[in-house]
Amino acid sequence: MEYKYANNDNYEDFSSGRVLYHGSGMTNFPVRLAQEIFGRCLQHSPKKNDICLYDCCCGGGYLLTVLGFLNQGTIGKIIGSDISMELLNTAKKNLALLGKQGMDKRIAEIEQMIESYKKQSHIDAKKSAITLKGLIRTNIEFEVFQSDALKDIALKAKPDIIVTDVPYGNLVDWTRNEENVINRLLDVLHGICHCDTVIGLCMNKKQKVKNERFIRLEKQQVGKRRFEILKIS
Ligand SMILES: C[S@@+](CC[C@H](N)C(=O)[O-])C[C@H]1O[C@@H](n2cnc3c(N)ncnc32)[C@H](O)[C@@H]1O
Repeated sequence: MEYKYANNDNYEDFSSGRVLYHGSGMTNFPVRLAQEIFGRCLQHSPKKNDICLYDCCCGGGYLLTVLGFLNQGTIGKIIGSDISMELLNTAKKNLALLGKQGMDKRIAEIEQMIESYKKQSHIDAKKSAITLKGLIRTNIEFEVFQSDALKDIALKAKPDIIVTDVPYGNLVDWTRNEENVINRLLDVLHGICHCDTVIGLCMNKKQKVKNERFIRLEKQQVGKRRFEILKIS
């Protein structure tokens, strides 16, 4: 796949556990790919700024937080939900880093670790935190709540872009083992989309999108991952 919206930069400042918090059970997502999927969704969206971004399987909020840092001035609001309350606590902490106060708190925490353990990794983390703080230009509102994405989702605002990396493999449990779980998810998402909402759905090769309520705008395979960009038909 040719990357059109994400440079081949060094994204180590975003490494999970460095400045962004890593909770147990959290999966990793490549930063460049996240930015590329968001960029493609934005290209299909008639709305170009003050975007309300939603992830219905947000886990520890890694994907959302990274996108918040990289799309300052484009994203106005971030909403995340997940079935796991424990991961949502990490998501709240990660999304708080998008504010200068939250990042200052994290820098103080890292300084405390430097003081206690005198480790190079903590010194590097402080440098990354200062770099990430330098990216903050706007105040992105955020909200997280617990919700099963296969049941109705009580979302107050209709999102402009949904980017989500659904559970797959042995790492995470897609708690119900329904025949066509992606189809069920899309039925639920249909209820919370407006007519121009663009969805970037990331899954593995085995998971198939077959839902007549949506049209496919793009489809790409990147290593083990596959993503599709969809909108309401
Ligand atoms: C591949 S991970 C996504 C990780 C996330 N993008 C991040 O940045 O941390 C899939 C997530 O789906 C969640 N999940 C599993 N079943 C779910 C369900 N029925 N409804 C909502 N979330 C679910 C898991 O708890 C897990 O956090």
